[in-house]
Amino acid sequence: MTQSPTRPAPLTLDKLGPSFGAEVTGLDLSALSDEQVVIRQALVEQKVLFFRGQDLDDAAQVDLGRRLGELTAGHPVATSAEVEHPEIYNIDSADPEFSFSDVWHTDVTFMEKPPLGSILRAVRLPHHGGDTSWVDSQLAYDSLSEPVKVLVDGLSAVHDGNREWGQYLRRREGQGNIWDGKQVTELTPVEHPVVRVHPESGRKGLFVNPGFTSHIVGTSEAESRGILDLLYAHLTKPEHVIRHRWQAGDVGIWDNRSTSHYANRDYSEVRVMRRITLAGDKPIGPSGSPSGR
Ligand code: SIN
Repeated sequence: MTQSPTRPAPLTLDKLGPSFGAEVTGLDLSALSDEQVVIRQALVEQKVLFFRGQDLDDAAQVDLGRRLGELTAGHPVATSAEVEHPEIYNIDSADPEFSFSDVWHTDVTFMEKPPLGSILRAVRLPHHGGDTSWVDSQLAYDSLSEPVKVLVDGLSAVHDGNREWGQYLRRREGQGNIWDGKQVTELTPVEHPVVRVHPESGRKGLFVNPGFTSHIVGTSEAESRGILDLLYAHLTKPEHVIRHRWQAGDVGIWDNRSTSHYANRDYSEVRVMRRITLAGDKPIGPSGSPSGR
């Protein structure tokens, strides 16, 4: 008799809210057998997963990332000289070039192919503060009125990394990292649909963020500002948000295609986090085209 292959057991989830976010219990991320399949499924459904009490070092974080997908460079332009793995982005508040993440953003949407997901590990934490919050951009889309859905379904927006990283890249004389097979030497603004259709679930979500979105294509400056302000206020309504208070050993994994996040800038002690990102695809809008139109 042939034996059927064993399936990984479903994850044990402690949900953080009615819509999204869950703590996964009983899993050691440094000793996965074949749970990566169920983690990837849970990521699409729950959007943000937390794993408490893990004991990962840099190499184990990179190994975990490789099990979950293809890894990118730690960042398209930032260098993390303190770490030996080029896949790791060292987010260290003591670094003179540290950039606080106290603006709602989705990671690296200023590239043609933003990451599919991010894996963040708490390395050194302040005694108080430094929480991170996430919004569920699919829930936010679903809770828009029908006329506004119709409006945003047909829009596209420009995302511009120069706002945050242009000066940094110039100081490095255009010597960025390899992203999607090419060295980044300049940050050419890119166009993405305002509503992204998730490539795995098919759900629609708002795909604009104040960190990197500069304007809506084909509208006046005043119209663009008005539309973006409306969407940002809607996205960040408390019922679309979860907040995580980090503890030593925590690992957070989020689906970067259906969430934005914000790191509280409310601490004075050093805070060190290490992030890796999984390679993603070009966002597609409701019309099936990358520009949303
Ligand atoms: C990030 O913006 O990817 C990092 C968030 C954090 O430091 O909490």
